[in-house]
Amino acid sequence: MKLLVLGATGPTGRHVVDLALEAGDTVTVLARRPEALEEMASRVDVVAGDATSHADVAKAVSGHDVVISALGRSSSVRADDLFTRAAAAVLGAAGEQGVSRLVWLSSFGVGDTYRSASVTQKVIYRTLLRNIYANKELSERMIRAGGLDWTLVYPTKLTEGPAEGRYRVGERLPMKGNPTISRADVADFLYKAARDPEWIHRDAVITD
Ligand SMILES: NC(=O)c1ccc[n+]([C@@H]2O[C@H](COP(=O)([O-])OP(=O)(O)OC[C@H]3O[C@@H](n4cnc5c(N)ncnc54)[C@H](OP(=O)(O)O)[C@@H]3O)[C@@H](O)[C@H]2O)c1
Repeated sequence: MKLLVLGATGPTGRHVVDLALEAGDTVTVLARRPEALEEMASRVDVVAGDATSHADVAKAVSGHDVVISALGRSSSVRADDLFTRAAAAVLGAAGEQGVSRLVWLSSFGVGDTYRSASVTQKVIYRTLLRNIYANKELSERMIRAGGLDWTLVYPTKLTEGPAEGRYRVGERLPMKGNPTISRADVADFLYKAARDPEWIHRDAVITD
């Protein structure tokens, strides 16, 4: 596969890049701070640019089979419209360049997944994460209507633990308390979904 990874300087994005390189894929990353790629820079094609810029995404996406987004706001609780702006850029640029497959990392509790959240999760999503979740929800409406072969991935709280490979995944999973999943396991699923047409036009909730 020829993969474009967005958010490759973030912890989940890094795992995705490692998995793809191990599998022998060709990987391009679009990074606004290429210096943060460190040693990864020598193993991937690097396009310097911003994921919210149509022109920058167009430069990076041409000739690829799939886009995986692991974009995020790191420790900020404000979206700063990142997800809607990036969705607009990706939908526009990928559509123009004939790249149809998109695997997009969201968060459990966004959109319809909120309904199956536990009481504890709902409190967190309605308070601390409210602004980010509102922007994610808008971006996902754009993606669902945008004409690409999307998969939206909804992990529960992320940890830095190792890949266990024993996670649960389904379109809707009932929750208790505030379960977690490691970024390494989420990356495993993002990468598998990118290769698996079974996940096209589906939501994937994922948790330990
Ligand atoms: N934390 C949790 O418990 C949790 C739970 C469920 C889902 N999630 C979601 O999972 C996703 C990944 O989270 P994470 O903690 O692995 O990563 P993260 O620390 O949020 O990393 C975000 C990545 O996005 C990049 N980025 C942000 N704005 C960009 C822009 N305008 N142009 C290009 N790149 C940009 C960052 O680049 P820079 O290095 O340049 O900043 C970085 O590579 C996020 O969407 C998060 O909301 C998190």
